[in-house]
Amino acid sequence: MSQIRVLAPAKINLVLAVGPQRLDGYHDLVTVFHAIDLVDELTIEVAERDIVLTLEGQGADELPVDERNLIVRAAQLLRERYGSPELGARIHVSKTIPVAGGMAGGSGNAAAALVGCAQAWGLSLRDELFELAAQLGSDVPFALLGGNALGQGRGERLQPLPGPPGSLHWALALAHGGLSTPQVFKRFDELGASTEMSMSQSFVDAVASGDVEQVAAGLRNDLQAPAIELMPQLAATLAAGEQFGALAGIVSGSGPTCAFLCAGQDEAQQVAERLAEVPLVRGTAIASGPVPGPLTAALA
Ligand code: C5P
Repeated sequence: MSQIRVLAPAKINLVLAVGPQRLDGYHDLVTVFHAIDLVDELTIEVAERDIVLTLEGQGADELPVDERNLIVRAAQLLRERYGSPELGARIHVSKTIPVAGGMAGGSGNAAAALVGCAQAWGLSLRDELFELAAQLGSDVPFALLGGNALGQGRGERLQPLPGPPGSLHWALALAHGGLSTPQVFKRFDELGASTEMSMSQSFVDAVASGDVEQVAAGLRNDLQAPAIELMPQLAATLAAGEQFGALAGIVSGSGPTCAFLCAGQDEAQQVAERLAEVPLVRGTAIASGPVPGPLTAALA
């Protein structure tokens, strides 16, 4: 039985401007998504009827393998809408992306499951996958595409942005414990921190040309303040990374992973090595982006 291998990249929001809460409970966003080469790997095999998920690697034992896992929901939704009931799949995931780390690990896995199962089941779909992705979560449509993209609405309305592949180099500091995305948004509302929701053309141009200094100067995350309120040690981690030579540090998405943009790969390695010695830091990684998402890679 042939196996399909799909890579699911993590993401960082280079800009995350958050508006007030909407009537449906979500928040309108203006964000620049950026996919990086910190990846989970999915292998998918066709099976009869059942969708069976197994996991290994970092944080695997914390994750459910039933419908509570977005991978299973993605496969079920795809089968229900475009497949037939006798289709099943064995999906194995090797995890590297931190769980509940603000890097869209779960969303990325769901996007990879959509692409991999569609391929395994012989379903030739593209636009349909974006619609299913938006049903699964706000970050899942971007996770199909990868690269860089401007996201609006609750994050599901996308406009791809150019950017030289692998031009931005990151040191990542993983935290002890995770943060819940709804809780971080709730704290954001309590702080009354809603700000202007615009995107400067000069920032988009800096991303497009891979101008690392300009990108560093424009990094912004409205969820950073509420994430720090919920996990105060993140402030010290951010300060440490900048002291160790990063151009700028930012909480990734709803946190608690901190992402440090560095001048190059060597600098990112040095910053990561020094961050590894900070007691508040659970582990470190280096990564670069942008990288394509699974749908873009499958169509290349
Ligand atoms: O869309 P997703 O299921 O990933 O979102 C998780 C939670 O994050 C939502 O239930 C909501 O509390 C919050 N969220 C939000 N506004 C967004 C995206 C997510 O309030 N644009």
